[in-house]
Amino acid sequence: MAGNSRTMLELALGLPEQMAEAAALCRCAELGEPVNYGPVLVAGMGGSAIGADLVRGLFWDEVPVAVSALRDYRVPASLGKDGLFVAVSYSGNTEETLSAFSLALKRGCRTLCITSGGALAGLAARHGVPTILIPGGLPPRAALGYLFVTLLVALGRLGLCRSYSRDLSEAVGLAASRRDEWQREARRLASKLVDRLPLVYSTSRLLDPVAERWRCQINENAKTMCHSSFFPEHNHNEIVGMGEPCFMTRKGVPIGLFDKSTHPRTALRWRHVLAVTRGGYERAVELRSEGRSGLARMLSLVMLGDLVSCELARLRGVDPMPVARIDELKRRMAQSRRQK
Ligand code: F6R
Repeated sequence: MAGNSRTMLELALGLPEQMAEAAALCRCAELGEPVNYGPVLVAGMGGSAIGADLVRGLFWDEVPVAVSALRDYRVPASLGKDGLFVAVSYSGNTEETLSAFSLALKRGCRTLCITSGGALAGLAARHGVPTILIPGGLPPRAALGYLFVTLLVALGRLGLCRSYSRDLSEAVGLAASRRDEWQREARRLASKLVDRLPLVYSTSRLLDPVAERWRCQINENAKTMCHSSFFPEHNHNEIVGMGEPCFMTRKGVPIGLFDKSTHPRTALRWRHVLAVTRGGYERAVELRSEGRSGLARMLSLVMLGDLVSCELARLRGVDPMPVARIDELKRRMAQSRRQK
């Protein structure tokens, strides 16, 4: 169900229901013949791209198919006729995605679209490209359940991965039963982040896209800066820069995202990093994923981050819904195209 009248917090709390609805919606979509092998390249921007990152993280140690997100107008030289090109745009009107989709069509790639309508749906219909139509009327970032789950279920139906339906049921059930507690935890966490710079670190490849999602949600909902990065790579460069410029020492709050897939040596690295940078980061927070399957664990921290961004918006006195600068930039870009 679309929901312009719902608040961002209500939409964030509704993630499990949206995921369940998305799974059902995708099961009956017409997708065409199975694809026998990857790679899968997913063109999308912002809230429409993160679903591909989540699939990439989920597949990392489970499925031998390379999935990557393409966030640009142009397509890479490596894009060939093998594998699958997926264009994802919630509005269907994002120019970078439309441009990449047109180029993929010219290259003769096997394509699929996920959108709520717009120019992308029109272009796909003209070229006979299978399209999963999702309900419109939401801010794209609040449609993550639709965008991520439809992609995952579609890849399963096309034969690129196993069925994730049991994991999806687990993730939905877990999120529905834990959301009240996660909201309380989000409130506690958000109160530590007011007037501070969250430094969100993933510690396993499953959680890399989760750290990225935290950053984008804090940017767009709480309307403030946020940094994200990943361990152990951080230990080989960023560690040296931590604490400078000096306001960062007082203002940065490291948030470590942990999972049972976190390598024990990486967990040890986190503790040593806090010791090495001692004094500046006494507010550091460690968060653990919950659930059995990788999908449920990943989603548990996605939902917590979404709730933190809404709670932080409330504490900062900003409305999480509008993204005026994104809208204004899109308007200016469209205008300059018309003037050409
Ligand atoms: C807005 C949001 C943005 C959009 C992005 C691309 O809620 O999250 O990051 O997702 O501007 O637009 P769409 O998703 O319509 O292709």
